[in-house]
Amino acid sequence: MENKRLGAVPPMGWNSWNTFTWDINERLIRDVADKFFTEGYKEAGYEYIVIDDCWSLKDRDEEGNLVADSTKFPSGMKALADYIHLKGLKFGMYSCNGTHTCAGYPGSFEHEFQDAKLFAEYGIDLLKYDNCYKPKQMSGELLYKRMSLALKNSGRDILFSACNWGEDGVYQWIRESGAHMFRSTEDIHDNWDSIKNIATSQLDKECYTGSYCHNDMDMLVVGMYGGSNDSNIGSKIGGCTDNEYKTHFSLWSIMGSPLMIGCDIRNANQVTKDILMNPDIIAINQDIECRGAYRIEPSWWNTEGIFILVKALADGNLAIGFFNLTDGDRELAIKFWDTGLSYASGMSLSLYDCWEHKELGVFKERYAPVVKAHDCVLVRAKLVR
Ligand code: GLA
Repeated sequence: MENKRLGAVPPMGWNSWNTFTWDINERLIRDVADKFFTEGYKEAGYEYIVIDDCWSLKDRDEEGNLVADSTKFPSGMKALADYIHLKGLKFGMYSCNGTHTCAGYPGSFEHEFQDAKLFAEYGIDLLKYDNCYKPKQMSGELLYKRMSLALKNSGRDILFSACNWGEDGVYQWIRESGAHMFRSTEDIHDNWDSIKNIATSQLDKECYTGSYCHNDMDMLVVGMYGGSNDSNIGSKIGGCTDNEYKTHFSLWSIMGSPLMIGCDIRNANQVTKDILMNPDIIAINQDIECRGAYRIEPSWWNTEGIFILVKALADGNLAIGFFNLTDGDRELAIKFWDTGLSYASGMSLSLYDCWEHKELGVFKERYAPVVKAHDCVLVRAKLVR
């Protein structure tokens, strides 16, 4: 591999699945690439534009190659890759370790090296690799190792995004497989319960995320407001509130997940843009050391649905997130002692609010914000004398 930094920090980008599922085409992808530029997503750090399932024909050609659907992509994948690269962005595609993709298109089983070569010829920079229609006798672990090896020998730097939904004990072998990120949960849906369930299911898995192999909590639903052409993904009750989207983005960021936008950025409103492009939150996610976030139980008698996450940053600061997933407002108190800051050090924490974008002051021993229902407070804490 040429690019030694490939996958060092959580990848950031956009993926077609959440909003568009099967309804994808080259016009859409080009428009998204244009918006990355004109709306500031590229400058904010978003880089990959990923076409998910449903891009190919239902059959391979006579040589056994995958064939892009020419009604959806008349100019072909190479031309689309060139367009995306000209904008200084990166191009991602999708396949599956089984005989078929989840939506029933050809999968890469027993075609791994052939497909990796084709993807490299297209000029792709990321491959999302799903887990449907895997022959029962095959080990998932082996199939992810197989595609990883095929990609690393394809002649192109291709970030490998494994997507086995946390199955087959993925935590035990994924880092060794060579994958740069791994889906650890079921599919996300655009509703608060889904966000809450995914986040809480990953609190004990933070020890597994880190540089070059990131725990992927699935694509973001920020800004979807229930708008997906698949009613299974878009909630029938209209998605989430802006505060819930803000909490979702904060959780995914501090927990080190890749940040793959899933809404229609061609029509995103200002609130959505402010959430997705918050530089202070993105800086926490992209911190070069990629430490997992550890959990501190707030000092209170009933801690169900409330927790504090602390992420150690490379410059010695701490990112501290106060999360209230319950339906009522709560005070969440952190004792600095629990972060390793002893009384004897004589030091305090100077806190900066990453959503309000303002200094909160210098605090000794303890900080206790009141956090609204379904909301969060995320601060960057600096040690001061
Ligand atoms: C699975 C994946 C999703 C998406 C679909 C496509 O469900 O987990 O992220 O890629 O397949 O069919």
